Amino acid sequence: MIRLLHGDCLAMLKEVEPGSVDLILCDPPYSSGGTHAGDRKASTTAKYTDNDFNGAARLPAFSGDNMDQRSFTAFMRWVCSELRQKTREGGILEMFVDWRNLPAMTDAVQMAGWVWRGVVVWDKGISRNQPGRFRNDCEFVVWCSNGDLPIDWKAAKGTKALPGVYHVPIVAPKQRFHQTEKPVELLESLLAICPPGGTVLDAFMGSGSTGVAAVKTGRSFIGMELSDQYFDTATKRIQEAEDELLNDF
Ligand SMILES: C[S@@+](CC[C@H](N)C(=O)[O-])C[C@H]1O[C@@H](n2cnc3c(N)ncnc32)[C@H](O)[C@@H]1O
Repeated sequence: MIRLLHGDCLAMLKEVEPGSVDLILCDPPYSSGGTHAGDRKASTTAKYTDNDFNGAARLPAFSGDNMDQRSFTAFMRWVCSELRQKTREGGILEMFVDWRNLPAMTDAVQMAGWVWRGVVVWDKGISRNQPGRFRNDCEFVVWCSNGDLPIDWKAAKGTKALPGVYHVPIVAPKQRFHQTEKPVELLESLLAICPPGGTVLDAFMGSGSTGVAAVKTGRSFIGMELSDQYFDTATKRIQEAEDELLNDF
């Protein structure tokens, strides 16, 4: 089952049945970029894209990415609280974030009532060059559970732990559908914590990469997106993924 909702996720979430979701996997606007508070006010095109011919700067900028840290924490707390209402007991939350807002995100999820369980690392293998300094070539996934998450050691016999670090290259800017697109391969790995056939929700789906990963791994998907253009792109990509699956059969 695929359900795509066009609009502000805080309004759209009202359409979702409480307790019906197994896994929330979201890539919200990071409200990041640069090293000073003023840098956050720039457009996503200036902050996150290159201007090379046909690079990601050709794609539409998106909104919701200019919050200061206090507003970001308050917004994420609000969204994560609504998301928790929609998640079953023992369900999982995975929230992408970069190094600048990692502390704000771990505060927000806990304030929203989630049990914070750890931080998964996405090693992108690339970053801006800073001679003599450490590279910022990783992004992070803050993961949590809705309440207790007991391990049934008997049933889990033979099951391995999921990796805590993923080495997956970024999508090449010229091949992107979204300015800050996440690789489907990475998202498929992050879906492994969701039971087969379970329901995945992405409240900031952008070009629909999480939806494509859900279709490819046989899970139901609920996606939300504010931007008209990105909603259309997501609808098209997810439909194509479904068609491909049917053709394979
Ligand atoms: C970081 S991008 C997601 C990119 C996505 N992971 C992909 O691979 O294409 C965040 C998206 O959230 C959308 N957005 C911003 N505020 C929103 C809101 N309040 N409700 C729903 N979507 C929102 C933006 O338009 C943007 O496309």
